[in-house]
Amino acid sequence: MSIHSDNRRKITVKSIAKMKNKEKIVMITAYDALFANLFESQVDMILVGDSLNMSFLGKSDTLSSTMEQMIYHTNAVTQGARTPLIVFDMPFGSYSTKEDALKNANRVYKETDADAIKIEGGANRAEIVEYLTKNGIAVISHIGLMPQFVRSEGGYVVRGKTKEDAELLKKDAKILEEAGAFTLLLEGIKSEVASEITSSSIIPTIGIGAGAGCDGQVLVWSDMFGFYEEFKPKFVKQYMQGAKLIREALGEYVQEVKDGKFPSDEFSY
Ligand code: KIV
Repeated sequence: MSIHSDNRRKITVKSIAKMKNKEKIVMITAYDALFANLFESQVDMILVGDSLNMSFLGKSDTLSSTMEQMIYHTNAVTQGARTPLIVFDMPFGSYSTKEDALKNANRVYKETDADAIKIEGGANRAEIVEYLTKNGIAVISHIGLMPQFVRSEGGYVVRGKTKEDAELLKKDAKILEEAGAFTLLLEGIKSEVASEITSSSIIPTIGIGAGAGCDGQVLVWSDMFGFYEEFKPKFVKQYMQGAKLIREALGEYVQEVKDGKFPSDEFSY
């Protein structure tokens, strides 16, 4: 029996390109088959983000994430979701040179069913983006606030606040588009700057903390479902109080076991 209930056709890099100026693109993160399967029929893209290093491994940043870890989780996600475009987030240090980038991206295509990879960086990564795309790898370029630079930059800083920074971001976007990226992921960028990048790009933009003017949006699933009560950055809307619901349900189970009420006859053989 198939676990898949999604009757849509497989979403490809071409389908994503065609959505620009026609339909908003919805992306969400997933790290396992269970949640990927729950998301499968409603979203266009699933990002196996290195944010899993923080949200599921409890680390303070994404930098210690490894290729092995990302491959393991991507294989779980592709088991759960077939239709959405699946994006593999290249971990820190896996694309420092174009040769390393291609070696690791080839590994992603050989060892997983991911459709594309994502790398962080602006114009300084253009040569790598070009090299990858020329070798048959579909690339999403992630610019703006780049979590993999948190240690070198000493924190997470919203971008595009000055005219100079806005110009720098617009230049990055143009250069990466010309290098062959099929989508730009814009994180932590002033809305008006992200909107300008979106309207001057021929490729789609997916925003996170970059306002409504982007071609699509992405959120980390555990943030948007309210599993982190203490983590509420301005750009995260909690669509559900996940932590509260789990705690309440768990409390009920614990109480019923303590009271000898579970399992009742209904749940016994
Ligand atoms: O790793 C991740 O989940 C990401 C998102 C923040 C876009 O890169």
